[in-house]
Amino acid sequence: AKDVYLDWNVTWVNASPDGFERPVIGINGEWPCPQIDVDMGDRLIVDVYNGLGNESTGIHWHGFHQYATGVMDGASGVTQCPIAPGSHMQYHFDINQTGTYWYHSHNMAQYPDGFRGPLIVHDPNVPFAYDDEFTITLTDWYHQQMPDLLNAYESESNAQAFHGNEPLPDSALINDASDTKIKVLPNKTYLVHIIALGNWPGHTWVFDGHEMTVVEVDGVYVEPYAAGDKFLRIGNGQRVSVLIHTKPDTSRNFAIWDTMDVNMMFFFEGRDIPPGYNPNATAWLVYDEAKPLPAPPVFGTDFVFVDDLDFVPRDREPILEPVNHQIVLNTGSRRINGVQRFTVNNETYMPPQVPTLYTANTVGPELASNPEVYGQVNPFVVKHGDIVEIVINNRHNNLHPWHLHGHQFQVLQRSDIGAGDYKSLGPNVSKTPVRRDTIMVQNNGHAVLRFRADNPGVWLLHCHIEWHVEAGLMATIIEAPETFPGSENAPPNSHYNVCAAYPAPYSG
Ligand code: C2O
Repeated sequence: AKDVYLDWNVTWVNASPDGFERPVIGINGEWPCPQIDVDMGDRLIVDVYNGLGNESTGIHWHGFHQYATGVMDGASGVTQCPIAPGSHMQYHFDINQTGTYWYHSHNMAQYPDGFRGPLIVHDPNVPFAYDDEFTITLTDWYHQQMPDLLNAYESESNAQAFHGNEPLPDSALINDASDTKIKVLPNKTYLVHIIALGNWPGHTWVFDGHEMTVVEVDGVYVEPYAAGDKFLRIGNGQRVSVLIHTKPDTSRNFAIWDTMDVNMMFFFEGRDIPPGYNPNATAWLVYDEAKPLPAPPVFGTDFVFVDDLDFVPRDREPILEPVNHQIVLNTGSRRINGVQRFTVNNETYMPPQVPTLYTANTVGPELASNPEVYGQVNPFVVKHGDIVEIVINNRHNNLHPWHLHGHQFQVLQRSDIGAGDYKSLGPNVSKTPVRRDTIMVQNNGHAVLRFRADNPGVWLLHCHIEWHVEAGLMATIIEAPETFPGSENAPPNSHYNVCAAYPAPYSG
């Protein structure tokens, strides 16, 4: 175990990942933001200076449970105040999970402007063999900056035109570029970490000519799963690691093909694909730089996907039961002052000016007071040790990747499209369900998740589509407030000042 210390100055830099130059948020003058590599047991220390000048910021460590370090979770308005321009914050926490993660700004819909990167935890006891490894990030990309796109998305005219047309990505990127070449050696086994760190659509992707064996999802080792000729589908926030074995010779190069989910972007939204629109991205496994880079094969649209409910965690954790606490999220939407908002049980999340962790620690978990200050955070209070079941009834016409901070959850059931609200568990629930931290929930369908409340803190539960985060598709799990430090002798509320750098709460 060692300390991994990073000194980061966050600033705007110019980049042109798809040929169009625009300002992006980079680190120490560079973009793409760097991959962080740590070993199991290390301590990660990141000094963040906000050199953006015009925006506040923060960093969330997506997938890390932050056991006993909840104030390091990095979610603005939840566990911390935003880091104001010109100021500084140090994140520091122990690495006690292995596998594939990422970091991103969790402040003001900021990360799609480029402030996100991979975080890989290497494991000395990794339960499979490989020769080398590399990372693939998949994202949708926009030529305009997020504040402008959000203004359009949250405008009254957009709400009138349609129930919240999300802005269309200008391109898809692999490793933040449109010409990524990954040099490989023949006859080797590679561990490939795939991370969906985009803003909106899910991705479908495949290596031409190389079969994938899934070994990890969202930091959970799974029994090796041979994908065969199936495609992998990955939603925002999700990670999948696969093993591929390279060809015995270097006679040709191979394409990596990725497509953004056109169902999510167009068909489920009732819009047509504009002529010439390209939802695809290509990268290459390069065996021999002197040889041509082939175009990917042309695929139909009738993909057969690997179903993540077929994965079996290596630790074979049995179903958590009995359930002591059920949380039901019925999602919907509502116009507030002409602007389209998403809702959870009819309430739209409105960011507080005092982080909910502080509020729960002071005025208490009911958060009943002034919404102008404490926001509308859709709180669910659970007790320490509870086995919590989360039911998500997705009453929208589109898919949503739901993500929980602070935990991995078991996925007991995920319905097909159109199956409606949850009624009961079907007969085919796995006795050792897949565990992950982000799950795609089908349109007009549901998902049933369980976790053990063994990590006191305040944890967001939200759709990982950044448009929908801003539109309020979020809830807050207030876990074990009875154990919070200071719950007995909480400081007076005035101890916590309203966050200086936080924007005024949404008021419509
Ligand atoms: Cu990737 Cu709430 O986070």
